[in-house]
Formats: sequence, C-alpha cells, structure tokens
Amino acid sequence: MDFIKPYIDQNKDRFLNELFDLLRIPSISADAAYKGDVVKTAEAVANMLKQAGAENVEICQTPGYPVVYGDVIKDPSKPTILVYGHYDVQPPDPLDLWVSGPFEPVIKKTEIHPEGAIFARGACDDKGQMFMHVKALEVMLKNNALPCNVKFMIEGEEEVGSANLEWFVKRNQEKLKNDIILISDTGMLANDTPSITTGLRGLSYVEVEVTGPNRDLHSGLYGGAVANPINILTKMIASLHDENNHITIDGFYDKVDELTRAERDQMAKAPFSLEKYKKALDIDDVWGEKGYTTMERNSIRPTLDVNGIWGGYTGEGAKTVIASKAYAKISMRLVPHQVPEEITELFVKHFTKIAPDYVKVKVTPHHGGLPYVTEIDNPAYIAASKAYEATFGKPAIPVRSGGSIPIVALFEQELGSKSILMGFGLDSDAIHSPNEHFGVFNYLKGIETIPYFYKYFSE
Ligand code: BES
Ligand code: MN
Ligand code: MN
Repeated sequence: MDFIKPYIDQNKDRFLNELFDLLRIPSISADAAYKGDVVKTAEAVANMLKQAGAENVEICQTPGYPVVYGDVIKDPSKPTILVYGHYDVQPPDPLDLWVSGPFEPVIKKTEIHPEGAIFARGACDDKGQMFMHVKALEVMLKNNALPCNVKFMIEGEEEVGSANLEWFVKRNQEKLKNDIILISDTGMLANDTPSITTGLRGLSYVEVEVTGPNRDLHSGLYGGAVANPINILTKMIASLHDENNHITIDGFYDKVDELTRAERDQMAKAPFSLEKYKKALDIDDVWGEKGYTTMERNSIRPTLDVNGIWGGYTGEGAKTVIASKAYAKISMRLVPHQVPEEITELFVKHFTKIAPDYVKVKVTPHHGGLPYVTEIDNPAYIAASKAYEATFGKPAIPVRSGGSIPIVALFEQELGSKSILMGFGLDSDAIHSPNEHFGVFNYLKGIETIPYFYKYFSE
C-alpha cells in the first residue's frame, strides 16, 4: 500500500480544489429556493465519480432529489462494498455568525486543526467526508489496486429525512446488493484518537401548536384574564422533564435497552475530559439525566429537546400582545428497541393529556428514524479497525454516537446489510452550526485510510 501516500501528496491541491467546487454549490435540501443548486450538485457528483473512474454512473430520479449511482464491478466472485453518503447540506443560517461565507470555502488554521481546516457548509457533513470516498476510489484505480467491487449511492435528501431514498432502496434491491455498506458521515474522538461509530440514535420529531383565544389580544385589556398560549406551552414543555431530568412521558422508557454495568464500564474507558468539554462550550456545568455520565447521556440514553419555539411578537421594540397561538418543534433521540412511531404516539397522548382546558393542542409528526447498533466482532468492523491502525498507528475505539442517520437501520431491513461508520469529523467541527469546518488533516487521512478498509475487508 506504499503508493497511497505519495499519490495523495502529489494530488493534494487538486483534491482540495475539487472539494471546494462541490462546496460552492448551495445544495440546501430543506429550502425549495435552492432546488436548482441541489440538482446541480447531483450532476457535479456524477461527473466527479466518472472522473475518478467509476462506471455506469447514473443520476437516478426519485419523487424528490436524485440519487447518484456509480460502480466498478471487477469480479462477481469478489466482495462488494456499497458506499453511502449525502450531497445535500443544512441551511447555513444564522448567516451573520459566519466569519466567511458558508458557500465560499477557505482554509483557516484553528487550535484543533493546526494544519488548517476547510470552512464551508457541508465541509464535514457530508460533502467533505463523502468526497474522501470518491478520491480514495481514484487512488485505488489509478494505482491498479482496487481489490473488490464497489458501488456508490450518494443521496440529496439526508438532511430532510431520506424519505425518497427509502423509496429508491425498496425499488433497487438487486442493483444495490452488497456485502457491506461503508459510510463516512459521523465523527471520531480526536485526531490522535481514532474511533469507529458502533451506534446511532433514532429520532422522533414533532411540531406542536397551542391555541388560546381566537385572535391576538391586547395584553393590557385581556392580560391576566385569558390563558396566554405561550405561557401555557412553556409550562407544558418544562413539565416534560422531572427534577432528575428524566422524561415524564408515560411509557417513554419502557423499551429502552439498559446497558449492563460491564458495558458501561467498557464505555467509560474512552478518553473524555469533562473540563475540556465545558471549556469548549463555555458552560459552567453540564446538564442531564441523573445517574448517567455525559458520554452516556449523549449516546445510550434517549432525550427530548425543543429545537425551536415561536409565537407572539418577536420584532423590534415592544408590542403588547397576547398571541392566539404558540408553537414548538421538539425532537426525541431514541435508543435501541425504542420505535419512532410508538414514541410519537406516546408523545401525542401525553401532550394532549397535560394540556389544560384553556387551550387546544395539535401535534404534527415529522420524519423519524430507527436507532442502530452494530457488534464489534464481525469481519467488517475488524477490517475497519485494522485500517485505522495502519494509518493512525493505533486501533480505533468503538463509540456509540448521539446523532442519527435513519437510513442505516433501513439498509439493514431492506438490503440485509450492516453498515460500517468510518467517520473522520470531530464534534468541534460545528456541523449544522455557523462556521462548519473539516480538518485538512482529516480529509487527507480519510482518503488514506479508506483503501486499507477495502484491502482488509477483501482479504
Ligand atoms: N451526519 C449527520 C449525523 C451524525 C453526525 C451522526 C455526527 C453522528 C455523528 C446527519 O447528516 C444528520 O445531521 N442527521 C440528522 C437526522 C436527520 C433525520 C435530519 C440528525 O442527527 O439530526
Ligand atoms: Mn450527515
Ligand atoms: Mn447533518
């Protein structure tokens, strides 16, 4: 595998510039105003796959944004790796907090990335990480070293729930047939502490609407005599956690997979500094469910969070008003054995039950997804671990992540394949936040590590 490093060194600038070209297209799947750009990004990904040497490259239409497919089938008797990633990105707002434009990629040094990091929306989630796989394919093909078959499936709707990827997968079982799915859309612990993600949380997401009086009212004339839906909504939300920060929804924990003491002790061995964690977020203390560590709270325990709340007057100055309606968007992160539809139903029942007579509530479910866990004693995990050892000089630590990639559980259901989550981002890379970035070290290290996975998995 001696060819990898020199090839990357020689082509480093081009590898960066090609990624920059992708990052310049604002492929925001959530916002219909960017429809043309999302489609343009699919075309760019298809062209780049072709340039890297992929065959049968296709822009596959779905009822939503297209899925980009490409493959190199060398020998049907060899194993097949299916690479999954997404070319869509989160909206960049709030725009004024970006130091440089979200779609004007630049390299800047940071404390954690002394070799520089690429700043742009999607740099880490997931254009940068997805593109590592395209470049790793180029590295292997140009050096006659692709040891197995490979298929690419890059979607454009991950950030909005992958509904049409589900549609696509169900209709293309044969085309997508594989021995393992390889994904870089997660993170690792630190640049000197490689890790492999062995679990993802599921998701249940609802929007609530609380209605009080039939119109907005003068808060002097009616204040104190009519229930204010914003006051009521905030009180209802506050009651969703008890004094131990346990979620109060009836039945919420019924199916939660409780880890054994031994499993929790194993988890606690992963390096983690609470002091550094607090300092990085500028908080004096952490918060969470009593009886669990921070690492446990953000991975093996379910959560409930308000993601947005609005109503009444939020413009300049003061307007004295009691709003007719108040709204909130609420996410619940789920752990193994919890079922999104069931949790949503429990939420609806509970939220309706706790609503006082002075208001009406309406709950609208949004997209959800199942949690995922994988064992560490299978050949794919072992191959990934050896790959990290080859390029980082130490084996990767298994870590369960708090994030969600709902389609991973669906791949297991529909295609019967497990996924290996080889993420190269860091939690501090600010994905979904202003100033998202991805270390140049991480990008190049990813390109270097991926071919080793191909090699060890094929063996
Ligand atoms: N790549 C992320 C998920 C992720 C990031 C998992 C880091 C683990 C570590 C993905 O693009 C994402 O943002 N997923 C959403 C869910 C989706 C249904 C919108 C999430 O986790 O909020
Ligand atoms: Mn992602
Ligand atoms: Mn994301």
